[in-house]
Amino acid sequence: MRVALGVTGGIAAYKAAELLRVLQEKGLEVQVVMTRHACEFVRPLTFAALSGRKVITEMFGGAGGEANVESAIEHIAVAQAIEALVIAPATANTLAKLAHGIADDFLTTLAVATKAPLIVAPAMNVNMWEHETTRQNVETLRARKVRVVEPDEGYLACGMTGAGRLASVEAVAQAVFEVLGLREDLKAETLLVTAGPTEEPLDAVRYLSNRSSGKMGYALAKAGRRRGARVILVSGPTSLEPPAGVTLERVRTAEEMAGAVVANLDAATAVVMAAAVADFRPAETRARKIKKRDGLQQLRLEPTRDILGEIVKHRRPGQLVVGFAAETDHVLENAAQKLRAKRLDLIVANDVTQEGAGFDADTNIATLVFPDGRQKALGKMAKFDVAQRILDEVVALRQAGG
Ligand SMILES: Cc1cc2nc3c(=O)[nH]c(=O)nc-3n(C[C@H](O)[C@H](O)[C@H](O)COP(=O)(O)O)c2cc1C
Repeated sequence: MRVALGVTGGIAAYKAAELLRVLQEKGLEVQVVMTRHACEFVRPLTFAALSGRKVITEMFGGAGGEANVESAIEHIAVAQAIEALVIAPATANTLAKLAHGIADDFLTTLAVATKAPLIVAPAMNVNMWEHETTRQNVETLRARKVRVVEPDEGYLACGMTGAGRLASVEAVAQAVFEVLGLREDLKAETLLVTAGPTEEPLDAVRYLSNRSSGKMGYALAKAGRRRGARVILVSGPTSLEPPAGVTLERVRTAEEMAGAVVANLDAATAVVMAAAVADFRPAETRARKIKKRDGLQQLRLEPTRDILGEIVKHRRPGQLVVGFAAETDHVLENAAQKLRAKRLDLIVANDVTQEGAGFDADTNIATLVFPDGRQKALGKMAKFDVAQRILDEVVALRQAGG
């Protein structure tokens, strides 16, 4: 989910750096846009370093520079990509421009070009805040359904006391989350999520693994974090970028994954096992590469540690456990059997032979199977949406006293 953070030319511009971090913590991708005057207070480098992306400060590619096509259309590209525009701090000047549709720099042009909701957090001297023109501009914006995060009262940087201090970073962030419809319904949970494949070494260079990409588990971690949960992600080898704000533990083998899960089990209020853990591993591992000329007639395998079995053993009261069943045959029957055998609260069954389901895909076609026999077929949807539906069930189970 992408958000643009507009920073304007007030003393409180430095507080936008903290806001940026809070938004990112929630897993949001943030594009920072600064007015020229904002750059007098904080250097764009601060925001570039924190956001990991270029900060937009100019409409026309820099002072005296040639206007280039890329920057000429950038305001439209950003306008279409974002789901919210938050301006914090918002100066009296920028509020006035927003109220009247003046679009004379990148930020104010973006505000007119986007259909995304606008949130403003004004900050200014008390006289500026109480001035008739600011009052009218704020009313105009409110009437247009702009979310105004009222400034706090207190000692102001100008030496005066009164209303005009930028609202707390938490209050501004909360307004953004509300506008985006981000729920906080998992705030009381610590989710332990496993993701990806495991690798079971055969020799110094070879291993047995599977086609799991880790996308489902990472989507669960990201969605859980956005909904307020503390998330511990135990991940097998993947090429995925870890979601912001989660505690990541990287493992390689099933044995290592079992160890990491058991070590974190006590902290978890809910466990979601989305990893594709190897069921077998080579019975012996050679420290050196097996040479082709020496041949390998047979590969003897032994079962790996049963992680769900460990959880059943160590599980504490009230801890919810969600499993996954990736199957090719008798999908629902096998899933229901696993659900009963491991005493799970919910199992997510998917037929990995279906187009748009399973390992490599960005989508999944899952059926949720419950202990009372109920089934919910989700149809084909993005893995992130599947993750949200699974977490909806975690919330429902908790409300039902699970
Ligand atoms: C030191 C200093 C502090 C300022 N602080 C504020 C402020 O907190 N709020 C505000 O509305 N204007 C403040 N201003 C005035 C704005 O910088 C000025 O109105 C500018 O044109 C705003 O441009 P912008 O809205 O494009 O960023 C301050 C100016 C100076 C020199």
